[in-house]
Amino acid sequence: MISKMEKEDVMAKDTLILAIETSCDETAAAVVKNGREVLSNIISSQIELHKLYGGVVPEIASRKHIEKINQVIEEALDVAEITLRDIDAIGVTYGPGLVGALLVGVAEAKAISFAANKPLVGVHHIEGHVSANFIENKELEPPFLCLIVSGGHTHLVLVKAYGEYEIIGRTRDDAAGEAFDKVARAIGLGYPGGPKIDKLSREGNKKAILFPRGHIEGSPYDFSFSGLKSAVLNYINSCEMKNEEINRADVAASFQDAVIDVLVTKTVMAAKDFKMERVAIAGGVAANSSLREAMITACKDNGLSFYYPSPIFCTDNAAMIGTAAYYEYLKGTRSGLDLNAVPNLKIGER
Ligand code: KG4
Ligand code: ZN
Repeated sequence: MISKMEKEDVMAKDTLILAIETSCDETAAAVVKNGREVLSNIISSQIELHKLYGGVVPEIASRKHIEKINQVIEEALDVAEITLRDIDAIGVTYGPGLVGALLVGVAEAKAISFAANKPLVGVHHIEGHVSANFIENKELEPPFLCLIVSGGHTHLVLVKAYGEYEIIGRTRDDAAGEAFDKVARAIGLGYPGGPKIDKLSREGNKKAILFPRGHIEGSPYDFSFSGLKSAVLNYINSCEMKNEEINRADVAASFQDAVIDVLVTKTVMAAKDFKMERVAIAGGVAANSSLREAMITACKDNGLSFYYPSPIFCTDNAAMIGTAAYYEYLKGTRSGLDLNAVPNLKIGER
């Protein structure tokens, strides 16, 4: 921990963080000034490569990160018009994620930290997603409620202070993004499923098929999407057996409506129960256009202020890691050169 005086010294001048993110299939680097101003945000996506296999192949992801990482960091520094000498600290995602992919970013960040003699701050990937809300919403400050919906996580979290989280609900099985990806595959849309279902749904009737809404007895803020996923698969199978043509747009829209209905209802209920006036969303699925519209309406109807990042800051990026790293840096969090990748790192854990 740093003293109050040291913290005031840090805040009296501009703080530049170089951030690195390699937890899944995007090689990303960014430069963030004072936690909320993005000077550069470079993302090298591997989607085209993984598409061939219908999902992320961990071994290929690691190899691509190694190929791209130096180039992406150089570009981030160039666009921000700074050199390594100008930065105050390096932030890096060290979990959760694919171990081989995480290791590339962590090893790179440690090498730069050692060579340039700059402090290192390990960042939790999901805490990065939550922090993406600070980038464009300059007035947003904790406490607030955040719905986190990504490929691997579906959580309702109270953000009590910067870097202080309390999980009040979580999925019992699939994450929301996982359900989007699996249903997309089942209706032949391919990888990555979320954006494709989002687009196709606009042409479908969301009331065409009534899919189940997952609720868990006695756990009002928990989620379950495996029953919904099975219901969609059963619907497709039964149509095929009866030789009935499947209206893919209707299936996509009806599935998406079931997911959104549960996400919005539980988020609004939690905000009221925990007396939170501010609500935010985070993670790849937060880029979903219908979810954003439904949250805007529900929050307005219930007198809640709603915050959400632009789509580019919802899906994996390094700017969000820079923002999270800044608030950790201010608190005095420093990682050593023994920092390791932690594939199943829990929120709020260090
Ligand atoms: O946060 P993210 O980029 O990576 C993880 O940390 O998991 O989230 C990826 C997930 C994928 O499941 C993807 O299909 C989903 O976010 N996604 C979307 C949309 N864009 C990305 N889901 C629904 N609608 C979208 N527009
Ligand atoms: Zn993510």
